[in-house]
Formats: sequence, structure tokens, C-alpha cells
Amino acid sequence: MKERAHPSGVPWRNFYGRFRGKALNKTQEGRLGMQLEGLSPGPVDWRENPERHPLDLKKLFGGKEVWLEIGFGAGEYIVHQAKRNPDIGFLGCEPYLNGVAMLVGKIEKAALTNIAIYPGDVRHLFDVLPEQSVSRVFLLYPDPWPKKRHHRRRFVTPDHLKPLSRVMEYGSIFRIATDIKDYVRQTLEQVPQWGFETVDEPPQMLRKSWPDWVSTRYEKKALREGRTPYYLTFRRSTEATAKLV
Ligand SMILES: C[S@@+](CC[C@H](N)C(=O)[O-])C[C@H]1O[C@@H](n2cnc3c(N)ncnc32)[C@H](O)[C@@H]1O
Repeated sequence: MKERAHPSGVPWRNFYGRFRGKALNKTQEGRLGMQLEGLSPGPVDWRENPERHPLDLKKLFGGKEVWLEIGFGAGEYIVHQAKRNPDIGFLGCEPYLNGVAMLVGKIEKAALTNIAIYPGDVRHLFDVLPEQSVSRVFLLYPDPWPKKRHHRRRFVTPDHLKPLSRVMEYGSIFRIATDIKDYVRQTLEQVPQWGFETVDEPPQMLRKSWPDWVSTRYEKKALREGRTPYYLTFRRSTEATAKLV
């Protein structure tokens, strides 16, 4: 899909989610701004990086492998993974500022040094991630957009999957969890079109959570409300098959 652009070159990207919930007071916002500077992966926003120079991930994480969580919510999953995997560099992306503040608190409490945060829309982050730079991606309980006319806002659409595919290493793993059956349908239809293959065939792939899984806030809510979680695992195809993209 061709993106419309502002005369300045900034692409026009509709974002339908929330940037804020309960207001942070001035002190909290000022403090968060300073903390985020220390956790920044480098210049991502168009204002700071209009030329869209790629991020220097080697410098950021000292050459460690990089894993990305898209829409980390309150951050419990990325913190769990970062504690288990001190030799991995984690990138977390989340536009909802109250969630970002929660993750910052958790990072401080656990004294973690292997997480960087981009507090915005992942599509801006994709622009500046080098090609094949990420070796694992987590998309956990993405916004469901249940109405049919809103399905094109879902993450599993070309607008997101094409740049995701570019930044993932061949052979790397993309995990998705959702409690929405129709999201499973769209995922199985769309993701393989962008250079990914399924790791197991459904229904096995849908039923088992991963061995290193920890339930997220949204999963707990889904379970409380009687919905079934589905877990999908894809592998970024190797060079030969990925030429299709
Ligand atoms: C339903 S919540 C799930 C949060 C968390 N992963 C969990 O399982 O508890 C979906 C999250 O995706 C975030 N999100 C939506 N669009 C996004 C985008 N374009 N880039 C990054 N995150 C996004 C939302 O702000 C929201 O926090």
C-alpha cells in the first residue's frame, strides 16, 4: 500500500490507538522524559531523524542479538524476557504513555540494562531499523479491531507486515498471541504472504503457549472473560524463499 506523505516528507500514518490514559502530572512527565532519554534506542521520530538514518544497534547493545516487542502494554512480558536473557538486547515499542511509564518503573526496579524503549508507533521504528537486524519479534494481544470495516487497522496488514519482514533476519521467529478467532484467520491468511512460514500447522500451533511464556495483562483479562488464547509462531523464510517479498 502506498503511503500518503506530508509535504515535509513525513508519511501520513493514521493511528487509531490511545497515546494517553490517566493524566501524568508535570513532575511525572518531566521525570519520564528524562528516563526515556536514557532508554532511547537513538533517533526514531521524523523531527530528530528526517533523513531516516538507520539506528546503530551494535553500539546500542554492544553487538548482542536484538529482540523486539511491539505494543508491550504495561511491559510485564519484555521484563520477564529481559531477565531470562541478559545476553539479548530488547527493543520495546508502545505509544501508550501510561504503559511506557509502567515499563520504565519495572526496568528501574529490576535494574535491567538490556532494554531500550521507543514510545511511539512501531511503523516509525521500522523505518530506521536496519534490514535483517531483529531476530525475534513478539506481538501479544494486538488491538483486535473486531468490526469488519476496521480489520484494515489491524497489525496483520501489509502496512505493518511488509516493513516487519524487511527488518527480520532470515530464519528468525515471529510470535503472535491473540484471543480473537477472526484475528487468527487474518493472521494465517496475511503473514505467509510477506515471507513467513508457519512453524507448526494449526491446530497444534494455536493451542500451546511457548515454554518461556508468561501471561500478559490482556491475556489474564481474556481468560477472566472466558475467551480462549491462541498462539501462532512463524519463521522468516530463508533467502531463497523470501525473494517473493
Ligand atoms: C490490547 S493491548 C495489549 C498489550 C500487551 N501486549 C498485553 O498483552 O497486555 C495492544 C497494545 O498495542 C499497542 N499498539 C497499538 N498500535 C500500535 C503501534 N502502531 N505500534 C506499537 N504499539 C501499538 C497499544 O497501545 C496497546 O498497548
